[in-house]
Amino acid sequence: MPLDDSTLELISKAALLIKSSRYFIALTGAGVSVESGIRPFRGPGGLWTEFGEPSTDGYRSFENNPRKYWEEKINPVRRSSFGDSLSEAKPNAGHLAFSDLETMGILKSLITQNIDDLHIEAGNKNVLEIHGNKLKLRCVRCNTRFQKTGFNLSTLPPKCPKCGGIVKDDVVMFGEPIPRDVLVACQAEAERSDCILVVGTSAVVYPAASLPLIVNDRGGVIIEINPLESDLSSICDVVVRASSGEAMPALVEALKRLA
Ligand code: APR
Repeated sequence: MPLDDSTLELISKAALLIKSSRYFIALTGAGVSVESGIRPFRGPGGLWTEFGEPSTDGYRSFENNPRKYWEEKINPVRRSSFGDSLSEAKPNAGHLAFSDLETMGILKSLITQNIDDLHIEAGNKNVLEIHGNKLKLRCVRCNTRFQKTGFNLSTLPPKCPKCGGIVKDDVVMFGEPIPRDVLVACQAEAERSDCILVVGTSAVVYPAASLPLIVNDRGGVIIEINPLESDLSSICDVVVRASSGEAMPALVEALKRLA
């Protein structure tokens, strides 16, 4: 459905704010991948809405028995349709628009809560994956990341070739602290920014949801694209109630007209 005039007006207003900003960044969540066939977690059609949120002791059981964690990973009891959707998904028009904003030199960095690698597949280079990446493994001692493909799993739990620490999936589990290197990098980007675009997140999971607050506390601008209300909507300067796949390409067009 084409965007209506009032929504297009809000997108033009957002484009003006972005154009006059000094250091523009973005924060994305599951909503940007919905149009790629991946379910969100909360709200209508959400995975947790249907199955309930996972318990937070997932990471503790990994720490207690990393070998069991790996055995279950290698021989999962059952396939998950969510897992299948992750492996089949392709970037949508929203992802491609973010890549255009980086190529245009407007978007300085993109912080995503998504583990689906779709922003990188779409072409974005300056991406911080605060919850990890499905294609990578990570050493829990030195935080070195490794491509999953071809990693030696002959002994379980696999050890880090650099420091000998235990290696796990890069995806951050419930109850697991965000790896310090990526958290510090995300906070540094928020502290540098005077304008943040927040797309497709309910903004209820911290510390990711604190990043727009950092920008706001420093007098910066927050722009939201989300078809529904989020925990952040009330403090946003511009709120666009539309899907990412429709609104993001329109935002790129509006910025091109201003260029
Ligand atoms: N375009 C834009 N936004 C959308 C779209 C769409 N097509 N479809 C849904 N949304 C919005 C929803 O209205 C909701 O506000 O995307 C948001 C998705 O929210 P969540 O499912 O809570 O996802 P997210 O905020 O990314 O969750 C954060 O929680 O479960 C953990 O680790 C998981 O990274 C995840 C974190």
